[in-house]
Amino acid sequence: MVDADGVSVLGALRREPDVEAPDLVAVDATDRLLLDEAAGLLAATGPGEVAVVDDSYGALTLGAVAAGARDVRVHQDLLVGELALARNAERTRLTGTYRSLLLGPGLADGARLVLARAPKSLDALRELTEVVAGSAAPDATLLVGGRVKHMTHAMNDVLALGFTDVHATLARQKSRVLVARGPRPGVPSSFPRRQQHPDLGLTVCAHGAAFAGTRVDGGTRALLAVLPRMAPDARTALDLGCGTGVLAAALALAQPELTVLAGDQSAAAVASATETAAVNGVADRVRVVRDDAASSVPDASVDLVVCNPPFHLGAAVVTGAADRLFAAAGRVLRPGGELWCVYNNRLPHRAALRRLVGPTQVAASDRRFTVVVSTRRW
Ligand SMILES: C[S@@+](CC[C@H](N)C(=O)[O-])C[C@H]1O[C@@H](n2cnc3c(N)ncnc32)[C@H](O)[C@@H]1O
Repeated sequence: MVDADGVSVLGALRREPDVEAPDLVAVDATDRLLLDEAAGLLAATGPGEVAVVDDSYGALTLGAVAAGARDVRVHQDLLVGELALARNAERTRLTGTYRSLLLGPGLADGARLVLARAPKSLDALRELTEVVAGSAAPDATLLVGGRVKHMTHAMNDVLALGFTDVHATLARQKSRVLVARGPRPGVPSSFPRRQQHPDLGLTVCAHGAAFAGTRVDGGTRALLAVLPRMAPDARTALDLGCGTGVLAAALALAQPELTVLAGDQSAAAVASATETAAVNGVADRVRVVRDDAASSVPDASVDLVVCNPPFHLGAAVVTGAADRLFAAAGRVLRPGGELWCVYNNRLPHRAALRRLVGPTQVAASDRRFTVVVSTRRW
């Protein structure tokens, strides 16, 4: 991919501020396949007619700009992707060529080409399908690219809810693109979803990409069960990696004196947690922020942290992701403050919690989950 100045845009991209390592790339085969499949369409679009969803580090957005797209609209669920895109745009002198927007009609309104990395969940794909089908131009094409091993026929079925013509391209370098054309008129929007949980006295709202949707995860339930034992004198709490905001809303409902900050790097989580707080009547005491590992929260400013960290077994990068949250908890807790954390019994988090926060005791455990409380050392 070469821009007008002859500079290789894709070759210049980096992952930072995400983890960088020799085997981790900023541009992968899926990005390249998507851009190649889009090449003819990109050449035929005018300003403001291209949208990009869930660009990893900016390859799709900046690659599209280098191929002639102007005023590209972009939505990235993960904050780290948004930050990496901004830095890569600066690096390639393409700042100002795109706009970051929420996932909603403004993103794809009148768009004729939408490039998307396949989201992890079918619900996230469904929300994307509904947004694009409901607002893009009648001749719009939606291209959804992913690794073959992560793509299923169910994805075609979800796209077919919003488009009359859905087919897959041939695979290349273990990647494939689904092509959706012919937006169906009047596709209703089914997000945010809302579910009452009478057993928990809570209603949960969820956008498609939010962890667990409107369900309440087993680990989250294990934390909810010990909620009455958490720092009774706490005045400020942080729900670190809040997802749909179940823990934040439950804490605010249980302790009327408590103000709760709920933070997540995912835009879908932030939108969901904001709605969960509102629907449970605690929006005045739950503030929701999109940030990476509580980076906007001052040191030693919080009495209580609750956390159900990301938990993919076996992936070193993800163990690192949990450790980043533990380090953040250690930083934002005041001395003597408590982190209540839940994890799958098989995960070896205790040593990291001791190191990054302080003395750590098991507060509860069952067949699947361990709940621990770590006290921030003085
Ligand atoms: C296992 S989910 C738990 C969600 C919610 N607390 C619950 O119990 O349902 C972990 C959450 O942490 C968020 N997360 C992961 N890494 C993060 C980071 N560095 N900064 C902020 N949030 C993060 C994910 O987006 C996800 O919503």
